[in-house]
Amino acid sequence: MENNQYHFGMVGLGVMGRNFILNVADSGFSAAGLDLDTEKVKALNEEGADKKVKGTTDKNTFLSMLSSPRKIMLLVPAGKAVDAVIKDLLPHLDKGDLIIDGGNSFYIDTNRREKELEKEGILFMGVGVSGGAKGARLGPSIMPGGNQKAYQLVQDILEGVAAKVNDEPCVAYLGKSSAGNYVKMVHNGIEYALMQLIAEAYDLLKQVGGLNNEELHQTFEKWNKGKLQSFLIEISAAIFAKDDPETGRKLVDAILDKAKQKGTGKWTSQNAMDLGMPVPTIDAAVTMRGISSFKSDRIVIDSIYEGAATFTKVDKDAFTSQVENALYFSFIMAYAQGMAVLKSASEEYEYGLNLEVIATIWRGGCIIRAALLEHIRNAYKKDEDLSNLIIDSYFVEQIKAIEQDTRKVIQVATASGVPVLALGTSLAYFDSLRSSRLPLNLVQAQRDFFGSHTYERTDMEGVFHTEWEL
Ligand code: 6PG
Repeated sequence: MENNQYHFGMVGLGVMGRNFILNVADSGFSAAGLDLDTEKVKALNEEGADKKVKGTTDKNTFLSMLSSPRKIMLLVPAGKAVDAVIKDLLPHLDKGDLIIDGGNSFYIDTNRREKELEKEGILFMGVGVSGGAKGARLGPSIMPGGNQKAYQLVQDILEGVAAKVNDEPCVAYLGKSSAGNYVKMVHNGIEYALMQLIAEAYDLLKQVGGLNNEELHQTFEKWNKGKLQSFLIEISAAIFAKDDPETGRKLVDAILDKAKQKGTGKWTSQNAMDLGMPVPTIDAAVTMRGISSFKSDRIVIDSIYEGAATFTKVDKDAFTSQVENALYFSFIMAYAQGMAVLKSASEEYEYGLNLEVIATIWRGGCIIRAALLEHIRNAYKKDEDLSNLIIDSYFVEQIKAIEQDTRKVIQVATASGVPVLALGTSLAYFDSLRSSRLPLNLVQAQRDFFGSHTYERTDMEGVFHTEWEL
C-alpha cells in the first residue's frame, strides 16, 4: 500500500495491540503498527501477511503511512509510558490528528492529557478496551470518551472491531473527556467484585459442600447455562478442569492463593469514597486481594486459632443450589453498586452517561459480560433515572426469590469459619438499603457528645446541640 493510505495506527504491538490491529484489518480497514521491539513488529507482519496491516520500528515511516487526519491508538502500559509516547509523537503530528489512549489510564490523567493536547490542536480520546488478548482479536467491548467529533473519525473502525450482540456493536460514545476511562475503571471494579464472589462460592462448595474439582467443573458448567451465565463463570468452569502437566493434579490446586492487582479496582473504591457512594462488594474484593498477600501471617495465625470453627454439615445438592442463589444475589448487588457510582460520577463530572447504553455495550466482549446485563439494560431503558438497580421490578422479584437462600449461605459460612467478605457485605448492603431506620442516630449523638457537631431530629426541623454529660 502507498504512503498516507493506512486508516488506523497502533503504537504498542504487544499481544493486545497486535490483536487489535489484526481485528481492525479483518473489519475492512488498513492499519499500521509501531513498536521499537523488532520481534513484535515481525510477529505482526507474519500474522498479518495476508491482511492490510503493516508494522515498523521507525516512527517517521509509521507516521507517513497514515492517512490524514491521523488516527493513532496507544496500547502501552498505563501511566508514564502513555505520556512518553505522546511526547515523542507530538512534534511530528499535524493539527487535527487524533490520539486514542486504549489502556487502563487513570481518568484524571486523561483529563490532563486532553487539555494539554487541545492546546496543540491535537484531538485526544481515552478509550476503555475490555476482553483481554482474545477479546482484542475477536471483538472487545470498547468504551470511548472524549471529544464527540473525534469519535466520529473512528466510529466506523471501532464499530467494526467491537464484539457484536444480536448485531449490535459493543461500543458507543459515552461522554466527554475521561468518561470512557471512568466507565472502564468501574467495569474493572465490578470485575474485581464478581471474581471475589465467585472465589468465595468456590471456597464454600469445596470446604463445606465437599465438592471436588470435577464436581466444581460440572456445577459451574451448569450454572453457566442458568441465571449466572457469564464469562467469569464460564472460565471458572474451565479452570477446574485444567490438568497440571507438572503434577498430573488439577492446576488450580497448585496455584498460590495470592492475587495481584494493577489498581483499577482500588481506584473504583477510592473514587466511590470521594463521591460518597457505597461500593462495599468492590471494597471487599480489593481488601481480599490485600489480605491474600499476607500469606506467611495467615499461616501463623491459622496455626494459633486452629479449630476456631468447624464445618457445618450440609446436604450437598441443596447447599450448591443455595450458593448459586447467594452468588446471583451478590452479582446483582455488585452491578447495582457499580451502576450507582456511574450515575453519581456522571452528575459530578458532567459526563452525561447513559446507563442503558453502558449495560448494552457490556453485554459482549468484556470481562463482566453476563446474561444479567440484558436485564440491567432493560431496567435503565424503563427508567433512566433509576437510583438503584434493586428498585427495578424485575430485580425486586429476583431478589425476593433468593434472599432467604443468601441468608442461609452466610449463616453456614459464618458458622464454618469460611471467610465470605464479599458475599456477606453484599447481603449487608442490601439489608442496609432496605432499612428505613439505621442505628446512625447513635453515631450522630456520639458526634455531638464529643465534638458538638450537632444533629437533626426526626420530629422537628432544624439543627440541635445538647450539653451531654457523663
Ligand atoms: C479487561 C481487564 C483488563 C485487565 C485488568 C486486570 O477488562 O480486559 O479488566 O483490563 O486484565 O486490568 O486487572 P488487575 O491486574 O488489577 O487484576
